[in-house]
Amino acid sequence: RPAESVTSGGGPGRSSRAAVSVANLRGSGSPAPGGTVRRLVLTAKKATVRLPSGREIEAWTYNGEIPGPAITATQGDLIDVRLRNADIEDGVTLHWHGYDVPCGEDGAPGVTQLAVGPGAEFVYRFRADQVGTYWYHTHHASHLGVHKGLYGTLVVEPRDGQRADGQVDLTLPVHTFGGTVVIAGRDGRTEHLAPPGTPVRLRLINTDSDPHRIVLAGTPFRVAAVDGRDLNQPGEVSDVGLHLPAGGRYDLVFLMPDTSVALVVDDDRDGGLRLHGDDPGEARVEDDLPELDLLRYGAPAAVPFDARDADRHFTMVLDRGVAMVDGRPAYAHTVNGRGHPAIPGQLVAEGDVVRFTVVNRSLETHPWHLHGHPVLILSRDGTPSTGSPLWVDTFDVRPGETWEVAFRATNPGIWMNHCHNLPHAHQGMMLRLHYD
Ligand code: C2O
Ligand code: CU
Repeated sequence: RPAESVTSGGGPGRSSRAAVSVANLRGSGSPAPGGTVRRLVLTAKKATVRLPSGREIEAWTYNGEIPGPAITATQGDLIDVRLRNADIEDGVTLHWHGYDVPCGEDGAPGVTQLAVGPGAEFVYRFRADQVGTYWYHTHHASHLGVHKGLYGTLVVEPRDGQRADGQVDLTLPVHTFGGTVVIAGRDGRTEHLAPPGTPVRLRLINTDSDPHRIVLAGTPFRVAAVDGRDLNQPGEVSDVGLHLPAGGRYDLVFLMPDTSVALVVDDDRDGGLRLHGDDPGEARVEDDLPELDLLRYGAPAAVPFDARDADRHFTMVLDRGVAMVDGRPAYAHTVNGRGHPAIPGQLVAEGDVVRFTVVNRSLETHPWHLHGHPVLILSRDGTPSTGSPLWVDTFDVRPGETWEVAFRATNPGIWMNHCHNLPHAHQGMMLRLHYD
């Protein structure tokens, strides 16, 4: 296995503390008792992919497919993925978005590993202890690679979970290629048969750099999970729109009614998904539905720390300013007035409760994403979150907003903390969180 040691960048004159070698923070080599090994080879390569409409895309793919192969596991399985790069000159990695893997498996190039160049490979191994809906993508030149197709889905089912007979469980990564919405590799509408009474779970994943607006018409439903984590007592809703941040996931559940159900993304009524039951009539899709506020959805429950006395508190002001981009000064997206790598890192110690205040002074939405840890939403613009505890890995900070979030530092290493609008991240809206 590659043994490159990537250090925290101390350099001469720094304290005598040994540099953290995150490349050594690797995952377990075996599944939990009763679990199996999910072994897979993902080969990154260029391919011409033909969508069902006949449209062809010059894509960058894993195994020639967009999305890449769906990875599924049961809690406790060992995921063992050999990444090979056939012909992506820029290099590739695999990052397990929202999955709190040991740092050495995180796929952050220049931090946890070197990017995998053409002809090279890297093996990722970690135990699938975390249940839910996630995704994987390259983290190298990701503003190019992810957009061109280097992404796929990761779904982990609970070990004791029983799938009801005939249950419909669909994993639906939403990606735009040149303005066309492609859902799970299909452009245009997909039809599914779901007899009345069938339990349905739709796992929506936004693999784009911009938010998507989602409408589920024809049935009341619940948002059972956000970013892979179950909500507490999510109530039934209908006639609402959902705002799905870049990188984010919503699991929507409902019982199939007698009539049909439609999933509409970004008002594209010819696309999306239709589930039809006995009655072939079309579900009526309303315009201008109010947006569901997830900060007031579901019921409160205990959380494992008190965020009011955090051990560390960092403020990140998101704005525009001059920063170095690709080696030249440019007007770019900045954090506290600077761009990566000139943004000072954030230092934490294992066990700390860490609080972030994220202020958006720019005119664009920034989907903020921390690797390796879910964050608990505390408030938006001073209004506390009063619904179910909301643990996310990406939250959309819209223009003018201020968000407060907190997490417990329990996963040692060096972690990227960045905007998941990938062109923004490329322009420098990215920093590192280090464990002391
Ligand atoms: Cu989904 Cu740092 O990325
Ligand atoms: Cu951004």
